[in-house]
Formats: sequence, C-alpha cells, structure tokens
Amino acid sequence: MIPETLRYEVEDGIAVVTLNRPDKLNALSREVLDELEACFVEVGNDDVVRGIILTGAGGKAFAAGADIAEFRAMTAMDGHRFALRGQAVFNRIASLRKPVIAAVNGFALGGGCELAISCHLRTASENASFGQPEVNLGIIPGYGGTQRLPRLIGLGMAMEMILTGERISARRALDIGLINRLYPDDTLIDGTKELLQSITSKAPAALGLAIEALHSSDMPLHEGLRYEATLFGQCCATEDFSEGIDAFLTRRKPEFKGR
Ligand code: COA
Repeated sequence: MIPETLRYEVEDGIAVVTLNRPDKLNALSREVLDELEACFVEVGNDDVVRGIILTGAGGKAFAAGADIAEFRAMTAMDGHRFALRGQAVFNRIASLRKPVIAAVNGFALGGGCELAISCHLRTASENASFGQPEVNLGIIPGYGGTQRLPRLIGLGMAMEMILTGERISARRALDIGLINRLYPDDTLIDGTKELLQSITSKAPAALGLAIEALHSSDMPLHEGLRYEATLFGQCCATEDFSEGIDAFLTRRKPEFKGR
C-alpha cells in the first residue's frame, strides 16, 4: 500500500499513522477515509503491529474535520450516506482488537474530534484544542459525535460542546476526561509511544478482549456481565494466560506470544 494522504511507519511493534494533508489542516476527505480504512485493515492483519498511534502532520492540526469542500450541494440522501461512510471507518478503528491511541497535536475539530474519540485512548500536546463546530455550518456531528462524546464525557459536557460549537483547550479536555494524558508539544509522540509500549507489553489477546468487553459496557448490566464472563473464559484458553500465571508464580517476567 502506498498511501498519499496518510503516512504509515512501523517501529518496535508500534505503527504510527499520520494524517498527511497539512495544507488543509488534515481535513478528512473521502480519499483520507478510504486510506484510513485500508490502513486499519492492514495494521489489524499485521502480526508485527501490536499498537497504533494516530496523529496529524504539520504540527497545527490533528484533523480540522470532514472536508467542507465536499459538502457543496449535498442532498439529504448524500448526507445520510456521508455520515454512514465516516461511521463505518471510525467503527473499524474503534473495534480493532489492538490498542489505538490518538496523539492530538493541534486542532481536533468536527470529524477530527470524532476520529480521536473513536480511538481507545487520547493523548494531546499543550497546543491541542477540541471542538464540535458543526452547528456553525448548519449541521450536527455525523461521524459518531452525538453518540460517543456523551458516553465518554457525560451528556452535560457533550451537550455543551455540540450546542455551543466552542473549542476547548487540551487542559480543559484533560479535566473533563476527553483526553487521558497531556504532554508538552515536543514530547507528545515520545510520551505516547511510552504509554503505548507499556500497554503492548501485556498479553495481546487479553488487551483485545478487554477492548471488546469495554465497548459492550452500554449493554444492560446483566447481559454485560454475562458477556464479560464469556470473554474471561476465552482468555483462559490462551497460551498467554498460562504464561502470565506461571511467570507470576515463579517470580519472572512473562513472555507473551499473542497466542
Ligand atoms: N475542510 C476543508 N478545508 C479545511 C478545513 C476543513 N474542515 N479546515 C481547514 N481547511 C483548510 C482551509 O480552507 C485553508 O485552505 P486554503 O489555504 O486552501 O484556503 C487551510 O485549511 C488552512 O485553514 P485556515 O482556515 O486558513 O486556518 P486558520 O488557522 O485561519 O483557522 C481553523 C483554523 C481550524 C479555525 C479553521 O480552518 C476552521 O474553522 N476550519 C473548519 C473547522 C470545522 O468547522 N470543522 C468541522 C467540519 S464538519
């Protein structure tokens, strides 16, 4: 795959995927969505990749939203299809059974904010800002913002962000739980790599099943608990489970193989 609007590098089991349209603040055009989808299929199938960092090129933006130039003359049917397409790509990222961290370095607006909240964790640099400015354009978030944002930060804060369209700073985003870690601008990627490496040193299957279980936490409690027990059982069928228990009992570091 030779993507044009994405850069993709793998080092030490970590894939760094960079949205690469800095002149358009990494706006998410159709082409970017297609490449993102293809890229996440590839990283999902690549056994060498144990975790993914998604970031933006240029230092000014993670992504400033869907590509507004593509909105011209959009009919109701086009708009419906447009939203479903973005949701499908972001669902693929959210449902990946490998940890994905959005490293937000600048504007994460509209679809950019929705992309960040589709990732499993979010880090940001001090210069980052977040917002859902769609109401300024006469639309609402369509790539999952009205659904994922309230689940992440609560209905009140999501209502405020979406109805005012105002941007919030990275520091405020940390306070309300929109991001997990905040770094000085020049250490964002290194700090995020360190965080991701501490995660990917754990048993890969357990990480994947934990992501799956957590994503099911909006089920009714009794169903969610039953599902958790099923996934717990699946962990016990892995070699990594035997390795983890044996390593603990013999006081050594586990060597997980992802099986
Ligand atoms: N879609 C398409 N192009 C976009 C874009 C978007 N979402 N966001 C920025 N761009 C383009 C601008 O049109 C400009 O292109 P040009 O140089 O060819 O004219 C370039 O990126 C730089 O943006 P500019 O507006 O000049 O930068 P700025 O620093 O003055 O402002 C923002 C930055 C993010 C405040 C401003 O670009 C903005 O409000 N963008 C739209 C955000 C938005 O509403 N997103 C939700 C979309 S649903």
